[in-house]
Formats: sequence, C-alpha cells, structure tokens
Amino acid sequence: MREWIVAGNWKMHNTIQESIALAKAIKDGIASVKKGEVIIAPPYTALASVSETIKGSRVSLAAQNMFYEDKGAYTGEIAPGMLKDIGCAYVLIGHSERRKYYHEQDNDVNLKVKKALSVGLKPIMCVGETDEERVKGITRDVVGRQVKQGLAGVDKIDNVVIAYEPVWAIGTGKVATSAQAQEVHAFIRGILKDLYGSAANDIRILYGGSVTKDNIGELIGMEDIDGALVGGASLKPDGFLGIIQKISEKK
Ligand code: PGA
Repeated sequence: MREWIVAGNWKMHNTIQESIALAKAIKDGIASVKKGEVIIAPPYTALASVSETIKGSRVSLAAQNMFYEDKGAYTGEIAPGMLKDIGCAYVLIGHSERRKYYHEQDNDVNLKVKKALSVGLKPIMCVGETDEERVKGITRDVVGRQVKQGLAGVDKIDNVVIAYEPVWAIGTGKVATSAQAQEVHAFIRGILKDLYGSAANDIRILYGGSVTKDNIGELIGMEDIDGALVGGASLKPDGFLGIIQKISEKK
C-alpha cells in the first residue's frame, strides 16, 4: 500500500512570522489525521523557524530547491547538507518554474536527484508538459524523457517521489481532469516498472496543478494518483487542511 502525501509548495510567499503561523495551523489541524504524510516547503528564509515549529509533529519539512554540489564558491546557492542540517527530509527538484525561469535542464535535475539521495534527502522530482506540448500530442515524449533522464543512474528508487504537474495547470485554475491525470500517472508508473520492476508499485506519484479541496476528491480516486503537490491552496490553513481531509477520507 502506498501511503498518500500532501505537499504544500509555498513558493516565494510568507515572512518568517507568517510561515510559523501557517505551519502551526497545519500541525494542529492534522492532529486527528492518523495516516498519510504531510509535507510543507516554505521559502529558505523560514526553514529554520518552521523546522522548530513542527518538531515532534507529523509534518515534514521540504526545501523548494537545492544545488548539486556539497560546498564551494557558488554564490547564492544552498547545499543539500545545509538542508539536512536545518531539518529537511524532502526537497523539490525540477519544478517547472525552476525549469522555465532558471533554465534547469533534465541533466541538472538528474544531478540534483542523485545528490539529494546521496545525503539522505528525499527528492520530489517534478515533471510535466506545457500547453503547447500537449496540443502537439507529445505529452508522453516530454514526460517520458523527463522521468528517464531525471532518474538516469539512480539505481534505488525507494526514496524518490514523482510529481506530475502539467505546466498548463499550474497556477491557472485549469486543473487536469482525473482521466487526463491518471493516464499520465499510469504512463509514468509503466516507465518506473520498466526501470525498477516491482519496486515501482511503491513509488508515490503526486498530481500538482490548481489542486483545491473542491477538485481533489475526484483526482485522488484514481488508481495511480497517490497525493497532491499544492501551490496556491497551500497558503491558507483551510484550503490545505481541506485537501488533506478529503484525501484521508478516500485513500
Ligand atoms: P498551484 O501550484 O497549486 O498553485 O497550481 C502547484 C505547484 O506549482 O506545485
């Protein structure tokens, strides 16, 4: 049985005080939820404070990005060991905004995934096609390439989480239908089976892109959708806790 995950990606939002308040509301709000995994990814500046706030709770900490070197002259970058040090268990890798605005390529994603695993951080590797690519009918080519190249040289998959986030659905309010999402999730699981055999059955594949408490019910009913990566709706306790509630009722 795959344990579901709900991960909140706060992106470039929230001061330290706002982050502490939101983390506390989430921690208190999930006290009665006994299964699943809840992860929050605050901005770097709030990681230390949020780490303290959620200590001893069932909420796990994630960073939104990292660099693939251990240390050195890389002004402005954050090393994986620093994230471990601050209490992160997870790290988002290859989010489409990183790919779009910071030109991250599959090769960078691959280096980061491997480095994260080597220091004991669990990567949440994001993949997904753009609107243009979907219209052209090359969704499978794009997502297949991102998954295979992102995982190149990774021989143990257990600690990897995949997030399928169609770029056209991120922050647009245009959520994928449950059938559209399931089709790609099953396709990804098929690739993982080719690469890792039966271990692929235990890998969590999250859906992301305009998830809200009103649309998650249908998505989470699909066989290969194991949770959600949530942006906008993770910034308010009600929205995020509502998603967790819906998933915990269904999975
Ligand atoms: P959204 O973002 O929920 O605001 O669409 C999702 C994400 O970027 O992870």
